Amino acid sequence: MKLWGGRFTKEENALVNQFNASISFDQRFYRQDIRGSIAHVTMLAKQGILTDTEKQQILAGLEGILADIENGTLDVDPSAEDIHSFVEAALIARIGEAGKKLHTGRSRNDQVALDMKLYIRDEIMALDALIKELLQTILHIIEENLETFMPGFTHLQKAQPVTVAHHFGAYFEMFLRDRSRLSDIRKRMNTCPLGAGALAGTTYPLDREYTASLLDFDCATRNSMDSVSDRDYLIELCSAMATMMMHLSRFSEEIILWNSNEYQFVELDDAYSTGSSIMPQKKNPDIAELVRGKTGRVYGTLVSILTTMKGIPLAYNKDMQEDKELIFDAVDTTKGCLALFTGMLATIKFNQQIMKKSAMNGFTNATDAADYLVNHGVPFRDAHGIVGQLVLSCLEKGISLDEMSLEEYRSISPVFEEDIYEAISLETCVEKRTTLGGPAPSAMREIAKEYQKLLEV
Ligand code: ARG
Repeated sequence: MKLWGGRFTKEENALVNQFNASISFDQRFYRQDIRGSIAHVTMLAKQGILTDTEKQQILAGLEGILADIENGTLDVDPSAEDIHSFVEAALIARIGEAGKKLHTGRSRNDQVALDMKLYIRDEIMALDALIKELLQTILHIIEENLETFMPGFTHLQKAQPVTVAHHFGAYFEMFLRDRSRLSDIRKRMNTCPLGAGALAGTTYPLDREYTASLLDFDCATRNSMDSVSDRDYLIELCSAMATMMMHLSRFSEEIILWNSNEYQFVELDDAYSTGSSIMPQKKNPDIAELVRGKTGRVYGTLVSILTTMKGIPLAYNKDMQEDKELIFDAVDTTKGCLALFTGMLATIKFNQQIMKKSAMNGFTNATDAADYLVNHGVPFRDAHGIVGQLVLSCLEKGISLDEMSLEEYRSISPVFEEDIYEAISLETCVEKRTTLGGPAPSAMREIAKEYQKLLEV
């Protein structure tokens, strides 16, 4: 059934029909669409726009449609134009005349704006739950690895020693910010557009605040033109998801490196790895690679929706129908990546000995050797130069700073004493970095307690 056949004299072209229809993808909205209609009809009856009998008939019809779709006895008609037309037609087929009053004081423009908001609100909660699980998994790794040493890198060159807890703490902070971005978006988008009509409200005495409260919105939107034209929250969500994916992708890149034969810092569980069809020895980090790969797809959505919106005059235009497949794909992709990445992390094994050995070579304690001199009164810039000479001499001999004899140390600077070895040991290098935010196990232990509290909500 067409909702708008009246002013037309012939059927539309079959291709136009197909091009215009959104039922293949907006049928996802059937729950939200029915929920919105139930609230709308409840409000119409409260305002005396529908009789109580009409309300009862419509509500029973809508609830029946919902139940039948859920239990599989009613299939969404693929030849309907969209989910809104489908539900209305199904209602009229079931209850007759009263069903024709469902659309009083409403347009598909405010209806689709509502459906999308209800849908996205639930998806924000789902994303939030997945990020929380990821954060819990990271926190568990932090608590278990406060003293698991590893090299910290800059320019992918060994820089200074850190711990696995500290490195993972960095990702905890990133995903925590992602989580707070989601809650910001939810706060801003939680206003109800229903009752905005096509664009200019309606002449019926609607109680829009009542409808908003029935649907758990904070309030009704304030401008009917904005209500049907606003897709900002989708753009905000895409931007937040793009950022999450960027974090996941960076993390994936590290896991891929750490899992390589060259690093061997970690081993992925068999359940989260895949093999090669030709090379029997292979165990590949495909999950991490796919997460890294899918990041581009989510970025694409952000740019697509921004571009779709940029030239649209007020108020509703059909261009906006394009938002659906894009946002659905981005949300599904991000949720899938979060879930799989969490599973992969939860089962990862750290090769503690290899990480420790790696943290000990590559002169990661050179800064500490310079700090030793500073603590003995040498200005930092001079200390930097002295240790630079030491490193050069070590490189020539193919040894590390720990392996250099005290005589050699003293030949470059007489300030060095026997306690230099203790001062540049891996343990000292990490344990002494107790400043707020540093890797020392004592400092990280306190931070982990804060993390625990932050996850109580
Ligand atoms: N399928 C449409 C969309 O997704 C629903 C709104 C249709 N409104 C209209 N005036 N044709 O945007």
